[in-house]
Amino acid sequence: MDDGSFRMLLGLFNLSWRGYRKVRRGVKKRIARHMRQCGCREVGDYLILLEEKPEVAHEARKLLTVPISRFFRDQRLWEVVESSVIPELMREIEITGPGPVRVWSAGCACGEEVFSLKILWDEFEKKFLKASPLEIWASDTNPEVLEKGRVGIYEKTGLRNLSPATVQNYFVPVANGFRIQEGLRGEIHWIEHDFISESAPCKNFDMIFLRNNLLTYYEPPTKMRALIQVLTALRCGGFLIIGNNEEIPTGKFPLKSYSGYRCIFQKTSIP
Ligand SMILES: C[S@@+](CC[C@H](N)C(=O)[O-])C[C@H]1O[C@@H](n2cnc3c(N)ncnc32)[C@H](O)[C@@H]1O
Repeated sequence: MDDGSFRMLLGLFNLSWRGYRKVRRGVKKRIARHMRQCGCREVGDYLILLEEKPEVAHEARKLLTVPISRFFRDQRLWEVVESSVIPELMREIEITGPGPVRVWSAGCACGEEVFSLKILWDEFEKKFLKASPLEIWASDTNPEVLEKGRVGIYEKTGLRNLSPATVQNYFVPVANGFRIQEGLRGEIHWIEHDFISESAPCKNFDMIFLRNNLLTYYEPPTKMRALIQVLTALRCGGFLIIGNNEEIPTGKFPLKSYSGYRCIFQKTSIP
């Protein structure tokens, strides 16, 4: 499939990618296979089929998603989350009274981001002998990745950037890999949800992870619209975390940079 045809296909779903050549090659192969399965020899026929048959379009949309993630992806970010963001959230809860800290991992893939936070939270609790309960909404459009997150089993290669102590403390070896400890799998709502077309699954989040999806793969107008929508679900003073190679689009968003670190923002009351 040439680049022009691929761009047309992406456009159909409001997607627009730059870079990531290796990933793009893999996705093109998946789409070419799907085209053959649907009996389409030309991209034009495939595009018509996608317009006509929602179930085929649904499958193509799934094939266009990139569910790649890693535990503690972007190490520096997690250092700042551990040293500044988590203590600040704990301090605020002490002032506002008991209640869970509510986090949304939007586009969570197989849950690596979710469990990275759970691990840091648990370590904080062990160190300071107290921590507020943590409640996480983990959402994705792809039910298959959500199921993997729910089960919590990862291949050994997926744990390569975790220290042996972290693997030992938080994972249990099972026949097909390593399973995240049961104690860490509670208080997570795994939900099928599209942050482009649906409103947020809850309100007043204390922290939202929106990394390596909306701001990387979507067309600018879609990015703007969806970001505004996502931000309405973040409480004032709450944290928005984006990917290491991503930027907040130019515009009036109620956000200020936090700790001078480029991926962390705090919601302000005025845009
Ligand atoms: C590259 S992974 C990023 C995972 C994780 N946030 C991270 O940074 O490691 C992108 C994930 O976003 C999901 N995604 C893409 N568009 C989405 C949408 N409109 N609504 C919800 N999830 C979406 C994909 O299915 C995929 O699992």
